[in-house]
Amino acid sequence: MRIRTGIQGFDDIVQGGLIPNRVYIVAGPPGAGKTTFGMHFLVQGAKEGERGLYVSLTEDPRNIIEDMSTFSFNVKRYSLAGLILFVDMGPLSIQYMNAIKNKEMMKSTYAEEIFKKISALVRIKGVKRIVIDSVLTLKYGSGSEEDQNREIARFFRSLKDLKATSLILSEMTDLSNYSPEHYMAHGVVFLHNFLNGNTMTRALQVIKMRGTHHDCDMHKMEISADGIRVFNTKV
Ligand SMILES: Nc1ncnc2c1ncn2[C@@H]1O[C@H](COP(=O)(O)OP(=O)(O)OP(=O)(O)O)[C@@H](O)[C@H]1O
Ligand SMILES: [Mg+2]
Repeated sequence: MRIRTGIQGFDDIVQGGLIPNRVYIVAGPPGAGKTTFGMHFLVQGAKEGERGLYVSLTEDPRNIIEDMSTFSFNVKRYSLAGLILFVDMGPLSIQYMNAIKNKEMMKSTYAEEIFKKISALVRIKGVKRIVIDSVLTLKYGSGSEEDQNREIARFFRSLKDLKATSLILSEMTDLSNYSPEHYMAHGVVFLHNFLNGNTMTRALQVIKMRGTHHDCDMHKMEISADGIRVFNTKV
């Protein structure tokens, strides 16, 4: 069984969709379409009666819903119907940033708190699809780079044990610079947005997808009022 993302052209290039109950990374530079990708995934779930969860670590969910309202898929409708839940972890991240600044000890790390919230919603509300936007602030609350990597590894491990499929959105401007989370994830998708002559070109590339046959080429991608569309044409 595969989890369809509902992104036109994407599911076909990964043998029908994502393998369920796994952890995936969707990475890309600013404006590449990461949030839109995540929202397609949740809306598709909602259409199939699967409850989704959008965990926002930096942005107020109200702004995200407003931004997504320019697309034809109706995020607000599914949110009001309780099929897409939004959780704002921004205020907690500020608490952790302040604690670090003041060198205060916290009982648990920021990533642990986020996981607690996610696992409670999976248990209580039966959430099946999770989007975490984004990986950058997950590292708050851990000191050295080594500690941060250990923290992220623990977070990934916990997510993998849930009976839900997770997409972690990741800011990346240098797409040749792999980070530890790329190795930990079951699958990694890069969204490119680069200058080609005088025009910006969008492309989607499946870097890895364990258990799936796929190519690693850059597929032409478009964002329109209907959201993301991926083409078979290579860039
Ligand atoms: N209705 C629309 N029609 C066409 N393109 C749109 C529409 N709405 C948004 N876009 C494009 O989609 C881009 C936004 O994509 P999105 O917010 O998913 O990117 P992101 O990778 O999450 O960005 P960030 O790094 O800022 O979080 C916009 O920058 C814009 O170019
Ligand atoms: Mg975004």
